[in-house]
Amino acid sequence: MSTQIKALVFDAYGTLFDVHSVIRLCDEIWPGKGTALSQLWRAKQLEYTWQRSLMQRYEDFSHVTRAGLRYACNALGLRLGEAEQARLMEAYLHLATYPEVQEALARLAGRKLAILSNGSPAMLEPVVANAGLAQTLDAVISVDALRIYKPDPRVYALAVEKLGVPTGAIGFVSSNCWDALGAKAFGFRVFWCNRAGAPVDELGVLPDSEMRSLAELPALIGAA
Ligand code: LAC
Repeated sequence: MSTQIKALVFDAYGTLFDVHSVIRLCDEIWPGKGTALSQLWRAKQLEYTWQRSLMQRYEDFSHVTRAGLRYACNALGLRLGEAEQARLMEAYLHLATYPEVQEALARLAGRKLAILSNGSPAMLEPVVANAGLAQTLDAVISVDALRIYKPDPRVYALAVEKLGVPTGAIGFVSSNCWDALGAKAFGFRVFWCNRAGAPVDELGVLPDSEMRSLAELPALIGAA
């Protein structure tokens, strides 16, 4: 029997909050370009986190998110003025919450529930408040305290330290496969929320469980 899970730690962007909910605003500004822009924006945002970590040139998630947006607009030939940039960055503070999140988290009550995210505190605070999750969560933990991004193992260790729960009793939940596998390599019990039905990354470790949405999580950990 595996150790009982005493805490569940969630990734934020893509797992609880839909980064692609910005497509509507992107399409309003540049009709027909929303999906391509949102995809490239997210891809570059993540690449910059990895590159900056390797370069030891940390800038917070707001900085890399803005840089990713600028690159994506440039690559797609979209003119990004100050006003458009401000509107799109503001939209990131009000991302849509995936529809099953509230109920799934309510059914997991009794365990410690936390976010562990690349997001800076200033970015996470409004999106958590907007989702009505501030009371549900025991902690919102940001990599900003360490100035290094996921999947550096020191990030996952920060959750152990902040929650005061042993590594083996922490369940980690992410829709980002690379993040799920980083957490698995660290030692968490990992639930990959494979929203897109993607193949697993070839990184030599596998998640413990896979699901299509967080609605499946309570049953997977025996909370149903
Ligand atoms: C986060 C990114 C990885 O919330 O989605 O940490």
